[in-house]
Amino acid sequence: MLVLGLYGSPRKGGNTDQLLDKALEGSAAEGAQTKRIYARRVKVAGCLECGGCGKTGVCVQKDDMVDIYPLLEEAGAIIMAAPVFFYSPPAQIKAIIDRGQACWAMRLLTKTREQRKTYNSGMGYLIATGATKGKKLFDCTKLVARYFYDALDMDYAGELLVRGVEKKTDISQVPEAMDAAYKMGMRAAMGQKSDFLLF
Ligand SMILES: Cc1cc2nc3c(=O)[nH]c(=O)nc-3n(C[C@H](O)[C@H](O)[C@H](O)COP(=O)(O)O)c2cc1C
Repeated sequence: MLVLGLYGSPRKGGNTDQLLDKALEGSAAEGAQTKRIYARRVKVAGCLECGGCGKTGVCVQKDDMVDIYPLLEEAGAIIMAAPVFFYSPPAQIKAIIDRGQACWAMRLLTKTREQRKTYNSGMGYLIATGATKGKKLFDCTKLVARYFYDALDMDYAGELLVRGVEKKTDISQVPEAMDAAYKMGMRAAMGQKSDFLLF
């Protein structure tokens, strides 16, 4: 089982990085292979909305997504971690998500409407943090994650949302969230649903 970590923050070593590191530690402890993609490091252009993938299921753009698509395909579980930027995931990871349109196109080409009601490619999880504590803080990010995993033919299987963390080190003040991340990683390695938690 491959558990793929998608690091969505432009800030190295920040809150979501630390939570996802902890989650993948949990996955590795359960014997899973783990791989990491850092959105801040890869060169991924936005979707062109050219319709090319609609015909073939394959994106026409040949950038770092050429190496990322096979990992999205191979992973039995994906854990995406993203800070809230203006109520959304940051642009760097949003580019990867938008390029998931090719995966959605492939799903449309290969599965019937009935078959698309179920997911056969594993489980997807979300870790997200934000500085404020508003009621709707994670609404948009949650929807983005849910429909990204839908495109990838994966069940949306758990979320860990942490409010009120801003500085890089703030997450160390929420040890229960770090513990929950570790458990999420373990569950991902076991192909199980995780909790839906808000701190
Ligand atoms: C460009 C930008 C936009 C942000 N927008 C929001 C926001 O809309 N709501 C919020 O609560 N926090 C916002 N934040 C704060 C981050 O979500 C918060 O500091 C987060 O914990 C950072 O996670 P990281 O350390 O993993 O990058 C924003 C930060 C930046 C840099």
